[in-house]
Amino acid sequence: MSSTEVKNFTKKLISWQRSQGRHHLPWQINRTAYRVWLSEVMLQQTQVATVIERYQAFLKRFPSVSDLAAANIDDVLAEWSGMGYYTRARNLHRCAQEVVNQFDGVFPSDPKLLETLPGIGRSTAAAIAVFAYGESAAILDGNVKRVLARVWGVQEDLSKTAAVKTLWLHAESLLPKAPEDLVSYTQGLMDFGATLCTQNKPACIDGSGVICPFEKDCQAKKLSLIDKIPLKVKKVKVTSVDINWWILIHQGKILLEKRPHQGIWAGLWSFPEKLDLPLSAKKIELPTIKHILTHRRLSIRPVQVVVSKKLSNLDPQLEWIDFSELKKLGLPTPVKSFLKNSNLVRDDV
Ligand code: ADE
Repeated sequence: MSSTEVKNFTKKLISWQRSQGRHHLPWQINRTAYRVWLSEVMLQQTQVATVIERYQAFLKRFPSVSDLAAANIDDVLAEWSGMGYYTRARNLHRCAQEVVNQFDGVFPSDPKLLETLPGIGRSTAAAIAVFAYGESAAILDGNVKRVLARVWGVQEDLSKTAAVKTLWLHAESLLPKAPEDLVSYTQGLMDFGATLCTQNKPACIDGSGVICPFEKDCQAKKLSLIDKIPLKVKKVKVTSVDINWWILIHQGKILLEKRPHQGIWAGLWSFPEKLDLPLSAKKIELPTIKHILTHRRLSIRPVQVVVSKKLSNLDPQLEWIDFSELKKLGLPTPVKSFLKNSNLVRDDV
């Protein structure tokens, strides 16, 4: 991302934070690593207003990292109740124990070490390192991604690894050089994303008259792409489906079904999923296969039957195929790997 179009982003953000940003949040006062860490974990998935209500009570109950580490997990979960995403509370407890056991009760200041602890990702590690220790490290949470993408006009899907990698490099290149600016800059990114450059009602288009410090630089604004950046990619709804595969074998042949021209595996050869045939031979249930498609999570139960008599009056889409002919057919990936990996009982060898 070229920085030529955006002049003095870092400087402007710092001065905006100092004059317009938030300065009285409970975790901005008496910034110990424990207090900062707790707030950052709470703020990962909970609104600031809720965290403000719950933060002090949590600290009262568990005043230090060693109190939290020594607590019963049920008490931690009870204190967390109502904030959702309980994995966070479990990780919080485990993290406190690791800090006590591996770091003598002192959170490390190196973001790389912080990142090794449970529940601390790269952005949270950086926020703790900056706020608690004044380290130089870049944050990149959802709000910051949106801000950088808008100001620099990034129109890519931000869930893609390549786009995120570019944003991380960019976030690092924007860090202020002066150590005394790091806290204001980092808090500024958070405040600007949370109060002005919001997802649905950014100040530049909401008619409130609030001035954005980047109104002259912002590429998304210039190109009228504020509501298109970050790109919203519809998530596909994935449903779970259970199916059977009837693996019928008779004298060196296997029964396959040519699938219809529409739907999954259109036109390919697969195993029949429904059979309206009386089968007296022994049915052997084989291990379930999991297969993920774009919209479906398949759970496939293969049932193998070696039939002694050739079945007559088969549906036209069903065909007995010689094992040696299988490689010539178009087979869906899970059918191919099933045939390769399973030890099917053969009645001809
Ligand atoms: N969101 C994540 N961290 C935050 C912080 N330190 N202050 C305000 N909002 C935040």
